Amino acid sequence: MATVFIPGSFDPLHLGHIDVVDQARELFGEVVVGVLHNPEKPSGMFSPTERVELAGASLDGRAGVSVRDFTGLAVQAAADVGADFIVKGLRSAADYDVEQQMAHNNRAVTGIRTVFVPCRPEYAFISSRYIREIASHGGVIGHLVAAPVAAALAARFA
Ligand code: PNS
Repeated sequence: MATVFIPGSFDPLHLGHIDVVDQARELFGEVVVGVLHNPEKPSGMFSPTERVELAGASLDGRAGVSVRDFTGLAVQAAADVGADFIVKGLRSAADYDVEQQMAHNNRAVTGIRTVFVPCRPEYAFISSRYIREIASHGGVIGHLVAAPVAAALAARFA
C-alpha cells in the first residue's frame, strides 16, 4: 500500500483522468487528486472550487480516493498529504516529453519520484481543452466525462 498524489488542472476532470485514478488505486491503494489553484492567475472554465466539487462527484464511491485543491508546488502538496509518489497519466509521446521534464524537476526539489501510468487507448484522444471547446459550441461530450461534469457543462452553456 502506498499513497500517491495526482496533480492537475482538471478543468474539467474527464474519463481519461478517471481511468488513471482507477489504475493508481489498483496499483497503490490511496489516491489524492490535487486540483491546482493559482490565485494569482485565475483562468479556466470552472473555478478551483467547482473543479474540486466536480472531480469529487465524478469519483464518488471510490474507496481510498480523495480530492483537494492545492496552491504552489505540486511536490509540496504531495508532501503535505504524505504521498510516496506522484502519479501522472500519459496519453502519448507528446505528454511524455512534457511530463518527464516535470518529473525530473520535481525529483530534484524534494526527491519524490513520479510514476507514469498510460491511459487506456480508447481514452487517449480526450483532453479537457477540447471538451471545453466542444461543449461551448453545443457539441456532444457525454461520452467523454462523468455525469456530474456533463450536467455542469450543459448548465454552463444552456
Ligand atoms: O493538468 P495539467 O494542466 O497538465 O497539470 C499541470 C500541473 C498542475 C500538474 C503542473 O502545472 C504543476 O504541477 N503545477 C504546480 C506548480 C509546480 O509544481 N511547478 C513545477 C513543475 S516542475
